[in-house]
Amino acid sequence: MSDQSYLALDGLTLGYGDTVAVEKLDLTIGKGELVALLGPSGCGKTTTMRAIAGLLAPSAGTIRLDGADITRVAANRRQVGLVFQSYALFPHLTVFDNVGFGLRLKGLKGAALRDKVEAGLTSVGLAAYAGRKPPELSGGQQQRVALARSMVMEPKVLLLDEPLSNLDARLRLDMRTELQRVQAQTGVTMIFVTHDQAEALSLADRIVVMRGGRIEQIGTPEEIYNRPVSRFVADFVGFENIFSIRDGRLWLGDAAVPLSASLPAAAGLAFRPRTVALGAGPLSGVVRGVSFAGSTREYVLDTSFGTIRADADASLPVHPPGTTVAFDLPIGQAACLKAD
Ligand SMILES: Nc1ncnc2c1ncn2[C@@H]1O[C@H](COP(=O)(O)OP(=O)(O)O)[C@@H](O)[C@H]1O
Ligand SMILES: [Mg+2]
Repeated sequence: MSDQSYLALDGLTLGYGDTVAVEKLDLTIGKGELVALLGPSGCGKTTTMRAIAGLLAPSAGTIRLDGADITRVAANRRQVGLVFQSYALFPHLTVFDNVGFGLRLKGLKGAALRDKVEAGLTSVGLAAYAGRKPPELSGGQQQRVALARSMVMEPKVLLLDEPLSNLDARLRLDMRTELQRVQAQTGVTMIFVTHDQAEALSLADRIVVMRGGRIEQIGTPEEIYNRPVSRFVADFVGFENIFSIRDGRLWLGDAAVPLSASLPAAAGLAFRPRTVALGAGPLSGVVRGVSFAGSTREYVLDTSFGTIRADADASLPVHPPGTTVAFDLPIGQAACLKAD
């Protein structure tokens, strides 16, 4: 084993009865890495996590962790921690006893137990809350208790399945920072599941985009954000104008774009609204709608080949609905898609 393949999933196939949920998944994760699994609901994220945690036996493939084959090792012997979206705290136990629960099962007691629980609570900023019970805490505090409860077990890998999705927007941002801090402090290898691209982009060292039980793309946040390989990933990370390339022409659905620029050897091109150059160019559209979005105005244009979304600097004069606007699709600023 090298540190680059601390956790290795090899040909992992997972299902429920006759339903295949994840097919032949290959993924290696480095020691200390924070990897996000990103994808729409039902793409197999939770299923993959359950298999790593030992809660679901694969129908094919292997899981290796820290040099050992753990495919058939029982969940409680894997040294894999799992934090769910629902915190699953014991409401009648204090914060201290919730965090100490697993340690007690391992036989820890007295000062040894107290030291570990207190260190765990301190690491998530809850040292002063040891005597409270979960119902007396906010959602964000409960989530941090759940995090501390997993961390005190010193897992080799910590799995977090949509841990922030029950929190409001402000708390989610705080918890992102908190997770990054805990990870930087402890160096624990983390896999983080989310369906929120902003969360994945801001937190992860690498992002694994899943689709229909398979991996669509693996890359750094910059790679995923700037160089999506397919229409699916481009759509997921906010390229709202996605074209196919066929017969040396650009197509939006079944309509050809009247653009004579030479096209790259790719399956498609994707433009973010802000890269559409509004105000001049060989193409034109009629403004269907315009909405103010702070630093930009967001335009929806009707063109001869379909709907185009374009963002323009809000300091520029507004193009009112019903007016015709010239624009350009600067090929050099598009993402080149390998798969349509
Ligand atoms: N307990 C289950 N029984 C049968 N099918 C399931 C079960 N859990 C999940 N699935 C199916 O497996 C697929 C992947 O689900 P899941 O891993 O939960 O997706 P995600 O976490 O990405 O939303 C889906 O098609 C889902 O319907
Ligand atoms: Mg899920």
